[in-house]
Amino acid sequence: MKFGYFDDANREYVITTPRTPLPWINYLGCNEFFSLISNTCGGYSFYKDAKLLRLTRYRYNDMPLDCNGKYFYIKEGDTLWNPGWKPTQTELDSYECRHGIGYSKFSGSKNGLKADILSFVPLKDTCEISRLTLTNESGADKTFSVFSYVEWCLWNADDDMKNFQRNFSTGEVEVVGSTIYHKTEYRERRNHYAIYSVNAPITAFDTSRDAFIGAYHSPANPEAVLAGKLTGSIASGWSPVAAHQLDVTLKAGESKDFIFVLGYVENPEDEKWESHQVINKTRAIALLAKYDTDAKVDAAFAELKEYWNGLLSKYTVESSNDKVNRMVNIWNQYQCMVTFNMSRSASYYESGIGRGMGFRDSCQDLLGFVHLIPDRARERIIDIASTQFQDGSAYHQYQPLTKKGNSDIGSGFNDDPLWLIAGTSAYIRETGDMTILDEMVPFDNDESVAQPLMEHLKRSFDYIVNHKGPHKLPLIGRADWNDCLNLNCHSTQPGESFQTFGPSEGPVAESVFIGGMFVKYGLEYAELCDLQGKAEEAARARAEVEEMRKVLLSDAGWDGDWFVRAYDSYGNKVGGKECEEGQIFIEPQGFCVLAGVGVETGQAQKALDSVKERLDTQYGIMILQPAYTVYHEELGEVSSYPPGYKENAGIFCHNNPWVSIAETVIGRGDRAFEVYRKTCPAYTEEISEIHRTEPYIYCQMVAGRDAKFHGEGKNSWLTGTAAWTFVNISQYILGVYPTHQGLSVDPCVPSDFGDFKVTRKFREGTYHISVRKADGIQKGVKELIVDGQKVDGHIIPYVKGKTEYQVEVVMG
Ligand code: GLC
Ligand code: GLC
Repeated sequence: MKFGYFDDANREYVITTPRTPLPWINYLGCNEFFSLISNTCGGYSFYKDAKLLRLTRYRYNDMPLDCNGKYFYIKEGDTLWNPGWKPTQTELDSYECRHGIGYSKFSGSKNGLKADILSFVPLKDTCEISRLTLTNESGADKTFSVFSYVEWCLWNADDDMKNFQRNFSTGEVEVVGSTIYHKTEYRERRNHYAIYSVNAPITAFDTSRDAFIGAYHSPANPEAVLAGKLTGSIASGWSPVAAHQLDVTLKAGESKDFIFVLGYVENPEDEKWESHQVINKTRAIALLAKYDTDAKVDAAFAELKEYWNGLLSKYTVESSNDKVNRMVNIWNQYQCMVTFNMSRSASYYESGIGRGMGFRDSCQDLLGFVHLIPDRARERIIDIASTQFQDGSAYHQYQPLTKKGNSDIGSGFNDDPLWLIAGTSAYIRETGDMTILDEMVPFDNDESVAQPLMEHLKRSFDYIVNHKGPHKLPLIGRADWNDCLNLNCHSTQPGESFQTFGPSEGPVAESVFIGGMFVKYGLEYAELCDLQGKAEEAARARAEVEEMRKVLLSDAGWDGDWFVRAYDSYGNKVGGKECEEGQIFIEPQGFCVLAGVGVETGQAQKALDSVKERLDTQYGIMILQPAYTVYHEELGEVSSYPPGYKENAGIFCHNNPWVSIAETVIGRGDRAFEVYRKTCPAYTEEISEIHRTEPYIYCQMVAGRDAKFHGEGKNSWLTGTAAWTFVNISQYILGVYPTHQGLSVDPCVPSDFGDFKVTRKFREGTYHISVRKADGIQKGVKELIVDGQKVDGHIIPYVKGKTEYQVEVVMG
């Protein structure tokens, strides 16, 4: 069942009922100011960091779902309603929400009055614009009131939820004209405040939550709104809010716009005040003046659209499969941008107060983002590398505002270092910019010990070389990519964090998965050494990789029909036939094979066949089988989840593309696509009542076969699935892969996929690639013709400065 439809021409998903199975959200903002916005106008806003600089409050674990947002109430006589349905939930005569690329539109109507909202964050400013358009569609004149409402967060969203003994006394506001200024803590150490304003004279306002809502009412029935008159309250402590009242009369057929701006304003230390304890509003006034007319808002919106047109023109496909076109050309790339911006910080499942930027997460997010805005990728690589330690290990997370490593979680996740090579290599293959390797980058943010980025990569590589266990496999540390494989943790008390309890390193527990990564990214490191003319280092790296490959293919890494997953701290196998539960895991099958391990020996094919036989379901591939039914102290969090959920036999969407890529490596296009299709939102849209999360983007996990709600998605938006799926479909299935030498075209598609075209911007060039294939062919390039010239192999030689390439590929 569907709850809306794709409007591809407008690049929108159109939601046709407010009663979606879960809140279906969108992200506004591309640079520094962000808002989450749901299909019922829920959500919250922040500047740069969802924990430290939160503008508006959200209620977690809420009921009814999705409490708090940026609401508009309309009161006409005794009828009170919201254009986005919530919070009053008054039945609407019509409702529509269009989530677009960086904006959302709402349209609701009641009794012949129509309200349209356009919400977006302009490219160049730290504010969100909501333009409310009211249209009288009835035959008679109408008089009614409009009320806006947001609840301020006292900046630090974590403290805001806990420290009531202080916070109930700190709230402060100022009101001038139609602008409400939220200035809590500005009197002391903050140099920033927030504003909420409308470009029209108001009848009244409220800034105290108690006055607006009433102590025993709720946002569904605010007292002051029911009374039809806001009270002019000035908050003093407790909970400051911002609410405007506009009394409006519209003739039959008439329409009026109101532009609301929610903004973040910073003042230099010596310009904080206008007079004693009165904030300096100059910058706020200047900001508001930029968006005070329809023409200015239209121009800013057009600019945002133009920006996205540019970004989304970097990779486009035209094939006979609409769903592939839609995901590749619009939604998958869009989600890559969002995950790049947010990492795993702020979604409806990530609270914004927990994890900041993840080291491994952000490195992987780069893989799907780097072609969009390479300069931002470059900056990100330097930020991430700056949190590395001198021995090559790394802080597992860092805070986006301070860019400093997070010492609560520390280091010890032994896959982290290698992801830095992955991200850097992707950036250099995309741009050819070798200068990044010479950038001086600090360790642990200490400039006095800075080294060129290349040295960081070397230390990443050597961290694995220097941390091997009894089988010569990489030691796992606290965990590898699977955060829940906590083999050195041995936690027995509730409340202990699986991620940080126990020693950060054990001498025995090993990861086969990191071994696979080492082959893949060790070789990419060696390539970079070649390009820098370091032949000896390249040879050393390749020799180390070959050692690892041998171990992976030996009994240490191979269980007979698939790759072993790990060894626990007693030296026992994890992910082997002898295990009662957790016999086979997806990660090493996908990653070893995509790294090319076992392709020549036939082990690769065998491993992937085992995946299909033992882990596949109609909704995607499960992470392991059989599920753990009891808690294993020696394995950690993986066995803490009930069977079928999360890392315990859930369908972890992130590593499904690894298997799909692996299938392309061995040339099985039909199967690669089958794996792609099963978790693909454009396909699961049809079963939204089962899948439940947004049908336009990926979620982290779909419940596995052992779970009660098999097929149900959770943790939508912020997942490495976005980047990996885009890499899979764009670089492996459609096969347009950036190499240091030029763009490679080597598709691996289903037998019946038909001809297709890809337009790819790569460095200074635009590549118009047209691929022809006979039915039945899945992989192989028979002919490559570039601008009329036949070229051997499948790499289009890069020509510096050349801007147009006409490329014809015949598969066979
Ligand atoms: C979460 C984490 C990611 C981890 C994955 C598997 O998505 O953000 O870092 O790799 O879970 O445990
Ligand atoms: C839990 C989750 C995992 C996530 C981790 C982050 O272990 O299962 O997905 O990566 O928490 O701390």
